[in-house]
Amino acid sequence: MEHHHRGEWGSNLGFLMAAVGSAVGLGNIWGFPYRMGVNGGFAFLIVYLILAATVGLSIMLCELAIGRRASRSVLVSYQQLGGKMGTVLGFLAMLSPFLILSFYTVLGAYCVEYMALNMADLAFSVSALAGLSGGDSFNAVRVNQFGAVAFTFLFIFICFLIIRGGIKDGIEKFNKIGMPALFIMLLVVIVRAVTLPGADEGLAFMFAPNFTPFKENFLSVLSAAGGQMFFSLSLAMGITVTYGSYLSKKESLVKNSLIIIISDTIVAILAGMAVLPAAFALGGKDAAKKGAALLFITLQDVFNAMGAAGPLFGVIFYLLVILAAITSSIALLEVLVTFLSDRIALKGKIPNRAKLVTIVCLVVFAEAALVAADGLGANGLWIPFHETGRNLGASWLDFIDFISEGVAMPLGALIMSIWIGWFVGPKVIQDEVEQEGHKMSDGMRAFFNFCIKVIAPIGMAFILYGQLCEFFTIPT
Ligand code: PFF
Repeated sequence: MEHHHRGEWGSNLGFLMAAVGSAVGLGNIWGFPYRMGVNGGFAFLIVYLILAATVGLSIMLCELAIGRRASRSVLVSYQQLGGKMGTVLGFLAMLSPFLILSFYTVLGAYCVEYMALNMADLAFSVSALAGLSGGDSFNAVRVNQFGAVAFTFLFIFICFLIIRGGIKDGIEKFNKIGMPALFIMLLVVIVRAVTLPGADEGLAFMFAPNFTPFKENFLSVLSAAGGQMFFSLSLAMGITVTYGSYLSKKESLVKNSLIIIISDTIVAILAGMAVLPAAFALGGKDAAKKGAALLFITLQDVFNAMGAAGPLFGVIFYLLVILAAITSSIALLEVLVTFLSDRIALKGKIPNRAKLVTIVCLVVFAEAALVAADGLGANGLWIPFHETGRNLGASWLDFIDFISEGVAMPLGALIMSIWIGWFVGPKVIQDEVEQEGHKMSDGMRAFFNFCIKVIAPIGMAFILYGQLCEFFTIPT
């Protein structure tokens, strides 16, 4: 059957920009530096690199191949590989983007608020932020429920405008401008960060060999790096399958996977170089270990300490985070839009993209409004499992994150690697990769088989276990 309604990427560069745009997001600029800060710097980096080159590469190759093979939405793509298990995997892979959007858009909205506040300081010297500590500003942003919901609406509306344009004229076009702009702004912030007095301590923390964290708690470094790798490479969330479904048979899947993984990793390391040295230089030794607060508290303190130029760097930095969050959010939204649109086309009707995008954005806004109103647990809303005192009940964000990042994603990837490796067989993937004369070398084929059959299932089992442990601990 013809897929007239679908469209295709305008060029391979356009696909790559969009795929890298999906991968590079809050996970790189916020998650990577803070997890590296908490998990021992260099040790975390090494584990991350090994996992990305093995588990990450093999699963990304599978997802791109499965999507392109079917040229259909994630659910149908998985179903075409085999009945019931395909349906389970397809739904797991759609559940995650739907849930993740609820908090991803709120975090994006906080960045819009921070950029606006820094701008106000810059333009009118109103000291909207400069007069407060980073912690106080973050509290003020969290407890302002109306502001958070309104900015979340604005953030989703921007995504709506882009994604309504379609794959080529919406997503591809925005990424082709947004991604290079993000990269340049990141370089500007790095130059400022690494030239601050005391920044070298932060660089040494990242790059000087130090294996003591392994001795202290290898499993938690492994699961933190693994969970981060998954989220950062946009795996097990339907997006790589979806974007792959719009890819032409002429393109090399191995080359594209490598480019996406290498670019995403480079941006994560660069973000570490923008954030950690500044946190060490201006916030002291423990600033880098503050965890999730790094982006909204520690960094704002860093900008405050920069004097008159602080708000300028604040504006540039938050703008770059906003760009990263938008290019990722439109990817997450597209998973759902493509699903609905292909469903309608399968019934023989012509999908109305504008209408579908509107419905998806409104439903996402409804769940995001709840997370925004909750203010990361600051506003006394009822939260599931809150009474247990464990991480998963700390806020609506944590609860939803538990279902998606904690369970659905690692479980989906674990099932997928076992299913492809041992039941469907890796040959299906190899056949799709080898379309149009893109031969896999013997070495590459052996490496892929070993990764998908052995390394990925074992790695995923540890990551799933580690995620569950993290969510069930009581914060200290
Ligand atoms: N990879 C993104 C990040 O690192 O922030 C998160 C993400 C975006 C995951 C889009 C999945 C996705 F479809």
